[in-house]
Amino acid sequence: MKPANRLAFIKEYYFSRKLQEIKEMQQNGIDVINLGIGSPDLPPPYDAVAQMQLAAKQENAHKYQSYRGADELREAFADFYQRKFQVEVNAATEILPLLGSKEGIMHISMAFLNEGDEVLIPNPGYPTYTSVTKLVGAKPVFYELKEENEWQPNFNELEKQDLSKVKIMWLNYPHMPTGVKASQHLFHDAIAFAKKHDILLINDNPYSFILNDNPESLLAYPGAKEVGLELNSVSKTFNMAGWRVGAVLGSQENLQHILKVKSNMDSGMFLPLQLGVAVALKENEDWFKNLDFLYKNRRTKIIELVEKLDCQLEDRDLVGMFVWAKIPEAYQTSEEFSEHILQTHHLFAAPGTVFGSGGEGYIRFSLCVDEATIEKAIKRVEA
Ligand SMILES: Cc1ncc(COP(=O)(O)O)c(C=O)c1O
Repeated sequence: MKPANRLAFIKEYYFSRKLQEIKEMQQNGIDVINLGIGSPDLPPPYDAVAQMQLAAKQENAHKYQSYRGADELREAFADFYQRKFQVEVNAATEILPLLGSKEGIMHISMAFLNEGDEVLIPNPGYPTYTSVTKLVGAKPVFYELKEENEWQPNFNELEKQDLSKVKIMWLNYPHMPTGVKASQHLFHDAIAFAKKHDILLINDNPYSFILNDNPESLLAYPGAKEVGLELNSVSKTFNMAGWRVGAVLGSQENLQHILKVKSNMDSGMFLPLQLGVAVALKENEDWFKNLDFLYKNRRTKIIELVEKLDCQLEDRDLVGMFVWAKIPEAYQTSEEFSEHILQTHHLFAAPGTVFGSGGEGYIRFSLCVDEATIEKAIKRVEA
């Protein structure tokens, strides 16, 4: 069957293809160490799993669930935003739970974009912003993030462009893949820019609680709810990537538009997952301290590996679960270097170009691997 025309503009997700290739190498007896993907290997909070198991035995647990998410989950997200970001959100009207934040990118795009609308997307950045924009018939317009600007958008440059067709701007701070935080004035400037040009500003914020001593939300800034939305997720914060639970937060009016799309696409989320996540969101400071401790130790080891591979690091205090490094000068492209370490050392790390042309010359290593495995990788390189 001939697929829809829209598929001509996108490719299968890079990691979907590459992980298949790695699996085939493994089936052929090659022990590939996968440092490519940001899927937390650590367990979620014990109480959250216990609550999920208990809830699975409730009588009403297996029915279709509310399109707006369980009250307990919305209230727990609201309380979490209050405690962690000092942001007030109305649990009844300003939070919409999602099946992970990735699906929110599609729902938001379907709710707000018409064919031909333009979307400002970070380069480098999370590839889903681009593919979803293309799937809905809108046009990606990349804004370049550069190391010399500390990977922050340059609004003066953007002001010189024709912005008349721009409807959405994606922000993602802390930024993936570079691991930088928003500069002090970024959110403030972005809100003013969005207001001036009537653009919907969305901060995709899944990495705030990984190796970050100052988590920030766009919604903490004056005027944010009028022009903006924030996506958040428990995937990284609570090691629950496979649970597929996230949320979009913003004004009631904007969320109503998103609900119109979402309620026509799924029929609610499995209740025990929602109740388990509600428990995770109440975790105290010990959870965050422990996570920090584990990832800090891993980061130290990954940096050792990265240096053994002759890559260069600009910053050793990156936020999030990746180390972003420059490839050695001897290699022309990120893909060439990634392929070299895969074939020579059986180590997989993501070439920077997976995240757009702005990632050329860089490679991304994940911290989602235990210390013993990172040590094994170091020994391989030394050998
Ligand atoms: C920048 C960014 N946004 C969104 C997501 C999706 O996360 P979720 O598991 O909440 O769908 C990821 C996952 O890797 C990501 O890196």
